Amino acid sequence: MSSFVEFLDGCQQRVDGALARMLPVAEGPTARLHAAMRYATLNKGKRLRPILVYAAGALRHADAHDLDVAACAVELIHAYSLVHDDLPAMDDDDLRRGQPTTHIAFDEATAILAGDALQTLAFEHLAAAPLSAQSEPIRIQLLQLLAKASGAAGMGGGQAIDLAATGQQLTLAELQHMHALKTGALITASVLMGAACSGPWQPNEWQALTAYGNALGLAFQIHDDVLDIEADTATLGKPQGSDIEKGKMTFPALLGLAEAKRRAQQTAEQAVSALAGLPYHTGRLIELARYVVSRGH
Ligand code: IPE
Ligand code: IPE
Ligand code: MG
Ligand code: MG
Ligand code: MG
Repeated sequence: MSSFVEFLDGCQQRVDGALARMLPVAEGPTARLHAAMRYATLNKGKRLRPILVYAAGALRHADAHDLDVAACAVELIHAYSLVHDDLPAMDDDDLRRGQPTTHIAFDEATAILAGDALQTLAFEHLAAAPLSAQSEPIRIQLLQLLAKASGAAGMGGGQAIDLAATGQQLTLAELQHMHALKTGALITASVLMGAACSGPWQPNEWQALTAYGNALGLAFQIHDDVLDIEADTATLGKPQGSDIEKGKMTFPALLGLAEAKRRAQQTAEQAVSALAGLPYHTGRLIELARYVVSRGH
């Protein structure tokens, strides 16, 4: 079996190739919009959500092309969320994935439209791309998982709470809920979409995968909050200290840096524990849970 790093590289290359093929080429009257969509997507993203699709799909050997379709769709939603997250009306950041944010490299209106178009492309792709005979019957389920995780009950709702909480104090339960929506929902959907491509699951197994995704998503966002303090801008590829500058509600802001780091580790181990009853090779998912709270960017 390949090493963990080789696995990550392989997934990244696979989804990068698929994204490059499916994004519209920058030509014609909408060339500038297409260029912005490609700029926001085809770059140094870690591709964690596609990697989770592939790793969860691999548990029961899902069809690789089905996983490509799900992986592209989740990454397009994620790329869109970053374009909008960085806008002046939201976090107002000028660096993303080591390059100027889309509204800086293009302009604000183009960035808004590129985000919109990336979001709809995700659903168009998931609705129309060829799937294997095994996955064709669950196309609607895949669409539903992604839609719910992206909208007001998921990422979009979490972003709304994030904005409303800026400069305010939340309770720990409220902060956890915000992180569960803004980051956890799409991460859990990535796990479940990958898993769904290998056929139906027992309810308790589906529950275990959901619990894994939820814990991984929370651990991931706590570590993101920690990195905003501890990492440097060059390593992060996004501006260090942005949360503090904007008065964002984060785990370190509420609990202090040391306790936030402890909770990130503890939550990642909860993700690992959630997998305990699954009768499959969960090694990659375990490695991923520990990776999200040890990564340097
Ligand atoms: C950043 O996500 C936004 C959050 C939800 C914390 P990632 O850290 O996965 O960003 P990329 O995709 O690698 O740029
Ligand atoms: C953003 O959280 C989550 C999204 C849904 C994009 P952050 O605002 O903390 O993400 P970064 O730190 O800018 O990547
Ligand atoms: Mg934000
Ligand atoms: Mg941000
Ligand atoms: Mg952040």
